[in-house]
Amino acid sequence: MRIVTAIPEMTRLVKERRDRGETVGLVPTMGFFHEGHLSLMRAARADNDFVVVSLFVNPTQFGPGEDFREYPRDLPRDMEMAAREGVDCIFHPRPEDMYPQPYLTYVEVGGITERLCGAHRPGHFRGVATVVAKLFHIIPAHRAYFGIKDAQQVRVIQKMVEDLNFDVEIVVCPTVREPDGLAMSSRNTYLGTEERRAATALYRSLRLAEDMVRGGERDVARVISAMRELLAAEPLVETEYVEAVDWKFLEPVSELRGEVLIALAARVGRARLIDNTLIRVE
Ligand code: PAF
Repeated sequence: MRIVTAIPEMTRLVKERRDRGETVGLVPTMGFFHEGHLSLMRAARADNDFVVVSLFVNPTQFGPGEDFREYPRDLPRDMEMAAREGVDCIFHPRPEDMYPQPYLTYVEVGGITERLCGAHRPGHFRGVATVVAKLFHIIPAHRAYFGIKDAQQVRVIQKMVEDLNFDVEIVVCPTVREPDGLAMSSRNTYLGTEERRAATALYRSLRLAEDMVRGGERDVARVISAMRELLAAEPLVETEYVEAVDWKFLEPVSELRGEVLIALAARVGRARLIDNTLIRVE
């Protein structure tokens, strides 16, 4: 497995592969790999001749006071894990190369970035869209892999690809969970023992929503209020939002019909956790 830090070398390497007729898969990450990342790498490995994993803790998607500095990092461990998945190349650029100073150009996706996490993390999706657009230019892959755990991020990237005519297929992969349902996240490492137990409330609240819908409930307000009640029963969980939105434009819905994303964010200790379920109601 090759480690590339220089942007021109990365682009040249991918173009050489494409010229040989090989397909290229990209897995964008911020590192500190867990099973969720590995599942994206496996999907990319299965679909493509050449697999690149980008590993870059992107400063522009963290707000002031967020966890950019503390974000867990362990390059040697990540390299070992990626090599075991048969990844061909890790792209690990220097921040000063990704953001030459003064850095002046950003990608803004409107509308769908305004609610859910976007309402609580101003500028976050601008940072995500910018870095992903840059990665798509640096690594002209045929396919790029993202987890549905970051559902709003998926929609932002899909819309950016559509609006800016990027020639890349976005492959969306399922959320990988711990045996007790907690969605895998690099930020789970922030949780103490009691917080880790309390954090399962996020998944339990989503299961409750799914059960209510399966039982015939179609009223969003009733579902959300039952979820909030379950979350409130865990004193260590501080709910940030629980919302039901349509999958396409992430607009609030009052009735469960069509494809509805029920998404939530909560603080548990110093971890900000997100999770969601995509419900299809006929
Ligand atoms: O999902 C992530 O890890 C990041 O938001 C991404 C897509 C790698 C951009 O920095």
